[in-house]
Amino acid sequence: MEITFLGHAAFLLEGGGAKVLIDPFLTGNPKASVSADEVEADAILLTHGHGDHIGDTVAIAQRTGAPVAAVVELAAELSEDLGEGHTVHSYNLGGTVNFDWGWVKLVPAWHTSTTPKGTPSIAAGLVVNIDGTTVYHLGDTALFGDLELIGRRSGPIDVAIMPIGGWYTMDRHDAVFAAELVGARQVIPCHYDTMPAIATDAEAFKADVERATTSQVVILQPGASHTP
Ligand code: NI
Ligand code: MN
Repeated sequence: MEITFLGHAAFLLEGGGAKVLIDPFLTGNPKASVSADEVEADAILLTHGHGDHIGDTVAIAQRTGAPVAAVVELAAELSEDLGEGHTVHSYNLGGTVNFDWGWVKLVPAWHTSTTPKGTPSIAAGLVVNIDGTTVYHLGDTALFGDLELIGRRSGPIDVAIMPIGGWYTMDRHDAVFAAELVGARQVIPCHYDTMPAIATDAEAFKADVERATTSQVVILQPGASHTP
């Protein structure tokens, strides 16, 4: 399995013969490493409806035909945008969607979620299993205690992808506690340095996590890939 950071909170997971795109905010993302009209996708998974996560979902889904999985209210909006023939998996917290390549489970996150069009829903994290490798994308979230429960229930987590930029999510100091609670083998930070409000020191986060936990932190520049 290969994980490519596309900038901000967008990732491409490749494995089991599939390319799984998460939170494809590319157009208007100053850190995007690929454009919306060239990124490949066999499935698109969304953590929540904010513009910096839903991003280019509709355009990419239309071009590639990729099915989309999103929480019910967000899925309803996307279904309307994509039309009747397009597969949109509408699930909710605790639910799992199975694909040929693996599965995705929607788990809690503490954050808000209203789409640019005004549809309210709820923010979530994604536990994704591809080819036997488990990746937990925490989505946008504050630090909360049930990260430990999710880590235990879905563990062992191979890679936890977590926001560290602060302001809209937990900051790098809270994220050290999040890393400790989740207990993943490896941690990839995201949702930082995209704009001044969420600038942070990823190297300091790495040092703090590796001092406090047994997790290894892998810092990816936009466009870089990592095999867990
Ligand atoms: Ni958000
Ligand atoms: Mn965000």
